[in-house]
Amino acid sequence: MRGTSSFLIVANRLPVDRVGEKQWRRSPGGLVTAIAPVMQRRDGAWLGWTGAAGEELKPFDHDGMHLIPVPLSSMEVEFYYEGFSNATLWPLYHDVVAPPIYSRVLWDAYRAVNDRFARAAADAAAPGAVVWVQDYQLQLVPSMLRKLRPDVKIGFFLHIPFPPGELFMQLPWRVELLEGLLGADLVGFQRPGGASNFVRLCRKMLGVSTVKNDIQLDNGRTVRAEAYPISVDFGELDQLVRESHVMARAKEIRAELGDPEHVLLGVDRLDYTKGIRARLKAYGELFAEGRLKPGEAVFVQVATPTRERVEEYIRLRNDIELQVGRINGEYGEIGRAPITYMHQSFGREELAALYCAADVMMVTPLRDGMNLVAKEYVACRHDLRGALVLSEFAGAADELKQAYLVNPYDVDGMKRTMMAAMQAPPHELGRRMRSLRRRVATHDVDRWANEFLTALES
Ligand code: ADP
Ligand code: F6P
Repeated sequence: MRGTSSFLIVANRLPVDRVGEKQWRRSPGGLVTAIAPVMQRRDGAWLGWTGAAGEELKPFDHDGMHLIPVPLSSMEVEFYYEGFSNATLWPLYHDVVAPPIYSRVLWDAYRAVNDRFARAAADAAAPGAVVWVQDYQLQLVPSMLRKLRPDVKIGFFLHIPFPPGELFMQLPWRVELLEGLLGADLVGFQRPGGASNFVRLCRKMLGVSTVKNDIQLDNGRTVRAEAYPISVDFGELDQLVRESHVMARAKEIRAELGDPEHVLLGVDRLDYTKGIRARLKAYGELFAEGRLKPGEAVFVQVATPTRERVEEYIRLRNDIELQVGRINGEYGEIGRAPITYMHQSFGREELAALYCAADVMMVTPLRDGMNLVAKEYVACRHDLRGALVLSEFAGAADELKQAYLVNPYDVDGMKRTMMAAMQAPPHELGRRMRSLRRRVATHDVDRWANEFLTALES
C-alpha cells in the first residue's frame, strides 16, 4: 500500500499536546518551534505521538497542518520515551551531565516503537516522497523505513548534540544506532563537530570508507553528514513584538515586578542540561556579597514542566525550588523578592512580552544542541536594547559571537558577566544586538529547512 503524502515529517511528538477532552496546546521544546512554521508553509503531513498514553486517534487537521497520530502504550511511554530516549540517550548525548541508564528492556521498547513509526511512515508516504525524520528518539527509523520503502528520499536531523566517540562508545547498542542513521540519504547535525564525530564513528565501528563528510556504504549508496544550524521564525517574532498590545504588556510586566533597575530572565524546560542551578547560584551570590540589593534586580525564571516522571527531573525540580526559596528567603524584603519563579508554560505573546521586558537574557546550558530561546530573544529586540548572556556550550554560540559568552561551570565568571551585562552602556548593547540580529535575520528557520531539503533532494 502507498500513501498520499509527498512530504512527511516524522517526529516523536506532534506539534500539539492533548489538554482535556477536546483541546490542544502547542507541545514543548525547540523542535516544534522550528518545524511548525516550516510545515505550515508546505503541503504535507506530520506523524507523531499526541503526548497521551494509550490514545488511538484518526488523522486530523490543526492550525494549517495535517497530523497523523502514532499511539504509545503507557508501558512504551515509560520504557521508550522516559526510559531509552530520556534516561539513556538524552544524558549520554549531553556530555553525561547525569548518569545514563543502560537497560536491555528500555532498548527493546525503543526498537519496537521505532519500528511502529517506520511502518506508519511507510504507509503515509506517496511514491518517491521526501520523508524527514527528526531527533534522537527515532534514530532507527531511517534504516527501518528504507527496507520498507526504498523509493523514498530519507532525511534525518538531530536536534541535540552528537557526542564525541569516547562517550558514544559506552552505548551497548552503538552499532545498531549508527546503522539506523545510515538508512538516511542525508544526516543533519546542529554543529560541524557533531557531523565529524558521526563520520569518524562510522569509519571506526563499521569499517566504511569516508571522503570528507560522505560515507560510502558497501551497497554503493552514499550518505552525507552535514551541519545545518537550526533557527527561529525571525520575521514572525519581529512583527509580533511591534504590536502595541505586546509592547504594553512588556511595560506592564516591568511594573508588576516593581520597576526594578534590572530585569534578568531565564526561559527553559526544567531540564538539568539547562544550567539553571549554577545560574541562580551566581545570582544569589551577588546578593550575598551586596553587589545587588533587593528591589534593584529581579530574576524571572520561567521553567516549563517537562519529563516529570523521570527521576533526574524530579530531583532537579526539588533542588531548584529549594534554591529559589532560600535566595528569596535570605535576601528578599516584603514585596521585593530577588527571584520570580514560574513552573508554567506561556503563550507566544506572553513569552515575547517577557523577552521585551528583560534587560539581561540568561541562556546558560551546560550543553545544548542549539538553544532557540537565545535566537528568539534576539529576534524580539528590534529596540537594540537588552543583553544576551550565552553559554559557550550551546550550539548558538557558534553563530551569536557578539553575545556575552560565559562558561556555565564558572560561577565567578558568570557573576562578572552578569554585572557587566547589567552595567553596559546603551551604545555597547546596541552594537552587540545589531550584529546578533543581522545573523538571526539572515539565517532564519526557512533558510535552515530550505538548505537541508535542497541538499536532500539534489
Ligand atoms: P529545547 O528544545 O531543549 O526545549 P530550545 O531553547 O531550543 O530548547 O527551545 C525551547 C522552546 O520552547 C523555545 O521556542 C521556547 O520559546 C519554548 N519555551 C520554553 N519555555 C517555555 C514556556 N515556559 N512557555 C512556552 N514556551 C516555552
Ligand atoms: O530537541 C530537544 C527535544 O527533545 C525535542 O525532541 C522535543 O521536542 C523537546 O526537546 C521537548 O522534549 P519532550 O518532547 O520530551 O517534551
